Amino acid sequence: MNQPRILDGKAVAATVLEACRNQAAALHAQGITPGLAVVLVGEDPASQVYVGSKARTCAELGFYSRKIVLPATTSQQQLLEVVRGLNADPAIHGILVQSPPPKHIDEEAIIRAIDPRKDVDGFHPENVAKLVLEDPTGFVPCTPAGCMNLLEVAGIATAGAEAVVIGRSMIVGKPLALLLVSKRANATVTIAHSRSRDLPAICRRADILIAAVGRPEMVKADWIKPGAVVIDVGINRVADPTKKSGYRLTGDVAYEEVAPLCAAITPVPGGVGPMTIAMLMQNTLQAARQLSS
Ligand code: GUN
Repeated sequence: MNQPRILDGKAVAATVLEACRNQAAALHAQGITPGLAVVLVGEDPASQVYVGSKARTCAELGFYSRKIVLPATTSQQQLLEVVRGLNADPAIHGILVQSPPPKHIDEEAIIRAIDPRKDVDGFHPENVAKLVLEDPTGFVPCTPAGCMNLLEVAGIATAGAEAVVIGRSMIVGKPLALLLVSKRANATVTIAHSRSRDLPAICRRADILIAAVGRPEMVKADWIKPGAVVIDVGINRVADPTKKSGYRLTGDVAYEEVAPLCAAITPVPGGVGPMTIAMLMQNTLQAARQLSS
């Protein structure tokens, strides 16, 4: 059996975070402290973990962070008021409203209310347009940016490669497809989704396969072209009574059967996950610089 290369997102993220710490110190010397506000509405347990880890990373890097936890009953109007307050707050350079919000919240309207210059998630239409236009003043969504960074650091060539992205979300699938097809990466890109005909056959074309669907272990061994690079964006909680928490984390890829076929693969956890937070910190630095210049 082939031993694939394990793409260690935790190690790459640590290097990125070290660079962010140094850049934050350089900004401090100019009297600027990068500031990130993270807003969580409701009590989704996974979101609570993500928000906590974002605040912790800010502290480690010398960023100012503000965690705003609102009850699940918060109204659209109340949430809009919070966002407007953060837009006007000079100590805050980046604003992130954790997704998904409760069902009664119109997420699209909340995203549009965020000042695009502080939209470190890159979800505002102005930043989506800048991604399409390849304008570097825009913010690139963190998880797609993390996937690209991981490929780049690993020296995996994307130019001319067949890349298949499974998933068409605005958080991962669509922006990632745009990054892969950009003039920087030059991949040939297919976006597959739940309505795609013969998904396994589409995936078998991929030199680079990216799974971003949120279905535990959906991608099987017979979906893989031997020698492919597999990036697993999924972080799924599945019940596991042998664990103290009662669950374990698994990706969208059936890792055990897929890994032996790959040239390289990301683990879950420890692959794309840590890269997402590192990219959020990079985006917050970019926002602090752009707002201060
Ligand atoms: N939920 C899952 N990923 C993300 C992300 O990158 N940003 C926000 N705001 N919410 C998320």
